[in-house]
Amino acid sequence: MKEPLILSGKDVSAHVYDSLLERIKKLSKKKCTPGLAVVLVGENPASQVYVRSKTRIFKKFNLFTKTYQLESSIKSEELLLLIEKLNNNPLYHGILVQLPLPKHINSSDVINTISPKKDVDGFHPENAGLLSIGKPRFIPCTPKGIMKILEFYRINLDGKHVVVVGRSNIVGRPISILTSLKTKGANATVTTCHSGTPNIKGFTLIADVIVVALGVPNFLDSSMIKKGCTIIDVGINRVNSNNEKGYKLIGDANFEDLKNEVSSITPVPGGVGPMTIAMLVENTIEAAENNLFI
Ligand code: GUN
Repeated sequence: MKEPLILSGKDVSAHVYDSLLERIKKLSKKKCTPGLAVVLVGENPASQVYVRSKTRIFKKFNLFTKTYQLESSIKSEELLLLIEKLNNNPLYHGILVQLPLPKHINSSDVINTISPKKDVDGFHPENAGLLSIGKPRFIPCTPKGIMKILEFYRINLDGKHVVVVGRSNIVGRPISILTSLKTKGANATVTTCHSGTPNIKGFTLIADVIVVALGVPNFLDSSMIKKGCTIIDVGINRVNSNNEKGYKLIGDANFEDLKNEVSSITPVPGGVGPMTIAMLVENTIEAAENNLFI
């Protein structure tokens, strides 16, 4: 098998940022700086890293962002009150509450409180509903980023069989919907596998494109795929390593085992991860534009 095409989210995100500069300039002429409020509850180390990566990019592009770091013991009512304040603050065009939240807080209550017009994650039921009927407002960042990678590398899903492994509201469910929509580059036949699927391998073996979003390190290997398929690896798993950090990041797909069997694959890191952040920036700019121009 010839060398696989490495689908670099790092490269694609650089193109996205280039295209966003013009939109940022246009907003700036109207005295508008896109702003994002980030709410981080508790001390989850992975969430802290994600939030820092997100806010670093906002600062790099001179966009406005502020992180509200809250104690993990915060009462639900207090958190909802903060979100209502952020909904009414014109400096913020987008609001992101980093998930997961501590167990005593009902995530649905929190998501439902975010104004759908500021819901740059696309998690609010109104936005999830709009996506499911093919009329999206905000598309969740990771699935949107995956579609951009496929578009950039001209991987057309029309008529293909896409197998999604995972059904979360953050990735699995929305990417299943997006890939099945009757839109340019999509129109795929889609199977969603999950913890209730008796034989996941039976599906991955017949997939043209596999999106794996389980959070299980090296879940997918070469015994589970059809030669020449495309693999989109959404997993970002920390595993112990004897480097200076003490850990390294690996995906849900066993890259080394798969790379000679596939036609294309996203690496971890440098694949889907950078696209999630780029799409958050894009959605926040979109929110600011909608606020100004509509
Ligand atoms: N946790 C993991 N991914 C995400 C995401 O895209 N948005 C939010 N808010 N939390 C997450």
